[in-house]
Amino acid sequence: MPPDPENEAIEQTWQFLNPVPRGPLPTVPEEAARPEIELTIDGQETSVPEGTTLLNAAQHLGIQTPTLCYLESLTPVNVCRVCVVELEGSRTLVPACSRKVEPGMQVQTDSPRVRLSRRMVLEFLASSVDVSTAPELQGFMEEYEAEPERYGPPGPPAVVSERDEAVPGHHAEPTIDSAQTVEQPVKIDNELYVRDYSKCILCYKCVEACGEDAQNTFAIAVAGRGFEARISTEYTVPLPDSACVYCGNCIEVCPTGALMFRSEYDMRSAGTWDESAQSETDTICSYCGVGCSLSLHVQDNEIVKVMSPLESDVTRGNLCIKGRFGWQFMQKPKK
Ligand code: SF4
Ligand code: SF4
Ligand code: FES
Repeated sequence: MPPDPENEAIEQTWQFLNPVPRGPLPTVPEEAARPEIELTIDGQETSVPEGTTLLNAAQHLGIQTPTLCYLESLTPVNVCRVCVVELEGSRTLVPACSRKVEPGMQVQTDSPRVRLSRRMVLEFLASSVDVSTAPELQGFMEEYEAEPERYGPPGPPAVVSERDEAVPGHHAEPTIDSAQTVEQPVKIDNELYVRDYSKCILCYKCVEACGEDAQNTFAIAVAGRGFEARISTEYTVPLPDSACVYCGNCIEVCPTGALMFRSEYDMRSAGTWDESAQSETDTICSYCGVGCSLSLHVQDNEIVKVMSPLESDVTRGNLCIKGRFGWQFMQKPKK
């Protein structure tokens, strides 16, 4: 068969192309072995690697400790104090979520002092915050027999922007016949998510997720002091005027429903939100080549919100606006 001139031309071209040099494939460096630390938790001796928190050491023994402000993907901020445990020789209770193990520690995770402290924390929270969409917190209240009602009926709600305008040094007159609350009007200023700070326990998770722990956008922070402390955009501007890029990573970590998908908020308001009728489907986002993991929450054959699994190595619970909110194209437009 006569040589094909086209093939010959290709062969000649290949001769002038240098092969791509291939180096070794990147590998994850092996973690250096950490010395084992021996300690006693609730009378059980155990040993865990140096650097382990008391929370994880207790988990290792099958002991569950309540947490609210802690999340494994975020830096501990120790603000809720619901995880506190009793440590022999320590004047105060210590937060299990951040305190690291030390040799010979004697720890009690369920002593009367620990239970009383957790109960008081939960009562303070539930007497001042709407915890109706925080099932985990409600479960803790049941476990620790919290009775927020004993602080009296809720005090009057704040009017629009009253809490946003509180400046340091501003204090409401204390009353003995009602419990001061953070109740205030819901902030609805965009189509994607709603901020209902009547439900905010000030756990800082959203601030961390928006900041250094995930998004690095720093659109929100804690403003004010004491009981007036609140989550705020810069100068309390509406979300569309802030630095927010609508990644929704703050909604993902919020433990109380203070930050809620607009879709969920609207369905709850209409009485159609029904978690028992929802299914969850894990998939991969198709918008770009990163391959983020998505958990689609579906009700009545419609996606009602998109979360991302915390245990995914790719996303660790974080998404961008497209993965989080850009799913409407998959559904029939509403008439
Ligand atoms: S949506 Fe993203 S950028 Fe906006 S406040 Fe939340 S975490 Fe920050
Ligand atoms: S809005 Fe949610 S995540 Fe942010 S501080 Fe309040 S409860 Fe925590
Ligand atoms: S979970 Fe430890 S202080 Fe909040």
